Amino acid sequence: MSGKILSDYEKLHPNSRALANRAAKLFPSGVTHDARSFFPFPIYVEKAVGGKKSDVDGNTYVDFIGGHGSLLLGHRHPEVMDAAAKASQRGTHFGSSHNLEIDWAELVLQLVPCAEKVRFTSSGTEATMMALRLARAYTNRDKIIKFKDHFHGWHDIVVGQQKDDQALPSSIGVPSNFYESLIVLEPNDEDTLVEALGRNDIAAVIIEPTGAHWGSNPIHKKFLEAIRTHTTRTATLFIMDEVITGFRTAPGGIQEKYKITPDLSTHAKILAGGFPGGCVTGKSQIMDILELRESDEVWNREERIAHQGTYNANPVSAAAGSKTLDLIAGGEHNHLADATTADLVFQLNKLFQAKELDASAWHMSSMWHLNLGENSPPPADVENTPNYRPSGINKALLQPLRWALYNHGVDLMADGGMVSSAHGTEEITLTIEAFDLAINDLRNDGYL
Ligand SMILES: Cc1ncc(COP(=O)(O)O)c(C=O)c1O
Repeated sequence: MSGKILSDYEKLHPNSRALANRAAKLFPSGVTHDARSFFPFPIYVEKAVGGKKSDVDGNTYVDFIGGHGSLLLGHRHPEVMDAAAKASQRGTHFGSSHNLEIDWAELVLQLVPCAEKVRFTSSGTEATMMALRLARAYTNRDKIIKFKDHFHGWHDIVVGQQKDDQALPSSIGVPSNFYESLIVLEPNDEDTLVEALGRNDIAAVIIEPTGAHWGSNPIHKKFLEAIRTHTTRTATLFIMDEVITGFRTAPGGIQEKYKITPDLSTHAKILAGGFPGGCVTGKSQIMDILELRESDEVWNREERIAHQGTYNANPVSAAAGSKTLDLIAGGEHNHLADATTADLVFQLNKLFQAKELDASAWHMSSMWHLNLGENSPPPADVENTPNYRPSGINKALLQPLRWALYNHGVDLMADGGMVSSAHGTEEITLTIEAFDLAINDLRNDGYL
């Protein structure tokens, strides 16, 4: 691969390249998360603040990754940092109960509509693993329904059959008979859902409530309502995986915004204010399967779900998480991030039109996405357009677009990004300027 865009990217990032060369000897493909893998090498970040981050070569970027979606308040929000610093001065791990986990749990119960009890984990993956186990234990059924391409972390049962063209799991190393208890359905199709629930043998339906990959294939509210209706009718549990949408789309997540209450919901990311942490929350009678009962050996040994985890509700995450949820509780940060995203999308669509580019931008709440390539659908109010089918970014254009945007100071997350309440007019202006220049570069290099 050649061209000015790529050679500029290489010229602008000599220190990142040097670190990538070291990393290549240490990590498979040189990275510690699949999504950070990038050709010919990723940028290495030195520090971040608000809506921006800067790399080891002194380049600054408008950041749309936002800690994989965990930073609704932006990088290093002063009150969150202060809470974490104060907590770490008391100790990073007591191996005992502490007041900060109680404050944190009370905020979860205050904000999340389905929350009656909560259990903290260290990640979203652990949260969905626990929720599915709870569902199986509670219903005494084995089967799980998930939706095509929906991401729920990387534990065994949820990694299967994620791609249209893959009948087999997208991750090897999971026994194939594991998938006998997994049913993968087309999203937004009520008929197949009704049919799959028909034998009353499904423990739970789990879904990313705005659609696969933080809404890049949107789910409509009506489908969530259908899941609620049909799971209730068949005594199946409804698990909303709000790891991304929780505390972002509203202080209480999609379940608050759409007034659809699941039986359980899973959370991470914003929950812990940029530190590691996750939780499962929901109805007490389901959560109480985790209970340890004094003097009931049979229950403790045979009828409950065991749960450990060294870093569950560690004081630093608990303090940062509580401060974050406290700041989010009034909804102003959510509204601000949503409004900034709407403005960004409006300006991007104006630019694409002015440059006569077959492209469009759209958003749900503070998550935005791009269509780029031939026959991109026009922009739409996606939440109120049930049949909206985005085309995404043409595969051949994604990498050159990201190089070009890096060269002009923007870090995308996949086909778009996450906006925080710390992003504002300056970040929008910088992003529009970067897109303008990047489109010129893509045209000059013959990609467009
Ligand atoms: C919807 C959803 N569920 C679960 C997870 C897994 O969370 P974690 O990366 O904290 O394990 C993610 C991570 O991106 C996610 O987007």
